[in-house]
Amino acid sequence: MIWARLLILLAPFAAAQSLDFEVYRTKVEPIFLKKRPTHARCVACHVEANTAFRLQPLPEDAKGWSEEASRKNFAVVSNLVVPGDPDKSRLLHHPLAHEAGGDVFHGGGRQFRSKDDPDYRTIADWIRAAKPSN
Ligand code: HEC
Repeated sequence: MIWARLLILLAPFAAAQSLDFEVYRTKVEPIFLKKRPTHARCVACHVEANTAFRLQPLPEDAKGWSEEASRKNFAVVSNLVVPGDPDKSRLLHHPLAHEAGGDVFHGGGRQFRSKDDPDYRTIADWIRAAKPSN
């Protein structure tokens, strides 16, 4: 009995952790840094701009964030993601072109022309692999 109760209590924490940090760090985060044709890099705006998608400052010349900074980014990004559901995840929905099912307006433009964009798919796969939180 007591164990069953404990499991119920712990379930939300397990779900919150179901987004994979290693995949985030090696596959997803590099996309925020990547120079993608015809687009400014996410990091160019999302360190300074006061939005819910606020990345840690990146030291000049650095190829990426320290693990500690990555963990902070991961926490921020996780709040913009619905585990298991890329379509409902603001991180992807907001910068996706409206015609492709995204939001009407993103201050940083249509970063993903469609859901077939390889970077969109990498992020979507990461979200899909996580368990839904209910
Ligand atoms: C040229 C600057 C610029 C670039 C580049 C940019 N963005 Fe943005 N982004 C903004 C601005 C400005 C806002 C706030 C206004 C709005 O909601 O669109 C924003 C908002 C967002 C939000 C909503 C945050 C919130 O507060 O809810 C998400 C998610 C987002 N951007 C994702 C991205 C992703 C992912 C990339 C790269 C693939 C990216 N952006 C590239 C300027 C940019």
